[in-house]
Amino acid sequence: MRRIGILTSGGDCQGLNSAIRAVGKALYERFQNDVEIYGIQDGYYGLIEGEYKKMEPRDFSGILTIGGTILGTSRQPFKRMRDVDENNVDKVQKMKDTYMKMGLNCLVVLGGNGTHKTANLLSEEGLNIIGLPKTIDNDIWGTDMTFGFYSALNVITDVIDRIHTTATSHGRVFIVEVMGHKVGWLTLYAGLAGGADVILLPEIPYDIDSVVAELNKREKSGKKFSIIAVAEGAISKEEAALKKKEFKQRRAEMVQPSIAYRVADEIKEKFNHEIRVCVPGHFQRGGSPCPYDRVFTTRIGTSAAQLISENKYGYMVALQNNEIVPVPLSEVAGKLKCVSPGSNEVVTGRELGICFGD
Ligand code: F6P
Repeated sequence: MRRIGILTSGGDCQGLNSAIRAVGKALYERFQNDVEIYGIQDGYYGLIEGEYKKMEPRDFSGILTIGGTILGTSRQPFKRMRDVDENNVDKVQKMKDTYMKMGLNCLVVLGGNGTHKTANLLSEEGLNIIGLPKTIDNDIWGTDMTFGFYSALNVITDVIDRIHTTATSHGRVFIVEVMGHKVGWLTLYAGLAGGADVILLPEIPYDIDSVVAELNKREKSGKKFSIIAVAEGAISKEEAALKKKEFKQRRAEMVQPSIAYRVADEIKEKFNHEIRVCVPGHFQRGGSPCPYDRVFTTRIGTSAAQLISENKYGYMVALQNNEIVPVPLSEVAGKLKCVSPGSNEVVTGRELGICFGD
């Protein structure tokens, strides 16, 4: 009898339930009645606190299209459960204890960078772990794609499309703030898909004068509106030159935490035009997964079941060149996949005359 645990950790996104379904259905298909699956509640928190429940085959039905996660989620245990343990090792020990008590053969974790760092830690501690790459940010090293990305991209592209119609009607400058944490994948793709005129990414620190020059250029050519897609993690050239400590302090002191409003204020000082800001926020992570994410999660979920049947552990199931491949957790942990300023997508944007503010 195989006993498999499954948990979802970190910020939720579209496709989590679809991935859970794929893992569950593929395990039952492979092992028939010779498998028990346990859903661990609220991510690693449930593993620390021993909160889990046995799942039945019917639990994996009817969830393909549903957003969020039926298992619940939480951010990293090292931040959340400080009151239980001050010492990280104790938390790891608690997780190991729960794993042992449950008699698991493997734990499947669905999550982003923080989740995979912890997954690698548990793997180094001798637990059998398999990771599935989840995040709208698409910033996990070792995989070309993370699930959630394309679904969020659909949402934010739709937002930009809708902003376009109102921006053209009123002849306004619109600044749309896109999620993505410290990387610009979502903003870059949404900006290209939505036909943004200016795209500001964390990886290419912006100069407000270049942005204003672009707005002036458009106005002179008779275009009365402009759309700026700005990544929530975007930084100015001036900020990029600061030391890490100074930068952190400056950000901590800021009255306006939203970059879109800050960029709007900076533009207002140099460009006399009506400006509006749109911050879609968590809308981007909500709702049903798009078809791509349904197929992708089905592919990686079934691949996780295959690895389990082969007793291959310590891997994240990744997409590389459209092949599903296992990548060692040790290679994934602690790295960030950023947009390269020389990437094909950025070069494509520049060919179209899109301004990256540098
Ligand atoms: O990592 C996914 C993400 O949506 C980021 O794009 C964003 O910065 C962050 O999570 C928001 O976190 P929270 O849901 O905790 O507000």
